[in-house]
Amino acid sequence: MIDLILTLIWLLLPVYTPNNFAVLLGGGKPIDLGKSIFGKRIFGDGKTIRGFVAGVVGGIFVANFQLVVEKSFNFKLFSRLSYTDFFILTFLLSFSSMLGDLFGSFVKRRTGFERGKPFPILDQLSFLIISFLISSQTKAFWLLFDLEKVFLAILITPFLHLFVNVLAYKLRLKDVPW
Ligand code: CTP
Ligand code: MG
Repeated sequence: MIDLILTLIWLLLPVYTPNNFAVLLGGGKPIDLGKSIFGKRIFGDGKTIRGFVAGVVGGIFVANFQLVVEKSFNFKLFSRLSYTDFFILTFLLSFSSMLGDLFGSFVKRRTGFERGKPFPILDQLSFLIISFLISSQTKAFWLLFDLEKVFLAILITPFLHLFVNVLAYKLRLKDVPW
């Protein structure tokens, strides 16, 4: 079980890490260019073009780093794929993770949540579910994942999120534990 969870976390790093790159490197022009629909921002000031691009590039960077780690520690997960399949899959995982993040904000604005206000479950799962919906269209996805992994990921991600945030809070990297 622990083995399965660790494998899953490894495979999902290109989905989990993009938003962190966006937080670190984001800023500037919002993706919605400040536009609103029905009096509410489309995505809000928290979703920037630079953050989106940094997220996708960051996710691809992490995946390539993982490939190097797999080679040096002699285990095969991403390295089971040809480089082309690997690149397309990990690009899709990161890109769709940022799309899902955007979709989450879209829903938050429509339901009246201000930028930055926490929306439990949606904040923790929209990126993952959108990412699975898109990436699972490739053959390469199913060489690494199966339905059990997909369901387990949806189940454990909110807990993982909480765990990482509490850890970051204890290490004083964050001001609030969520
Ligand atoms: N960020 C960004 N561009 C993105 C995503 C995130 O610049 N595409 C940066 C923004 O500075 C944002 C921060 O990362 O404020 C935190 O990201 P997130 O929690 O996803 O956004 P929120 O500010 O909480 O906004 P929302 O309520 O829309 O989720
Ligand atoms: Mg937020």
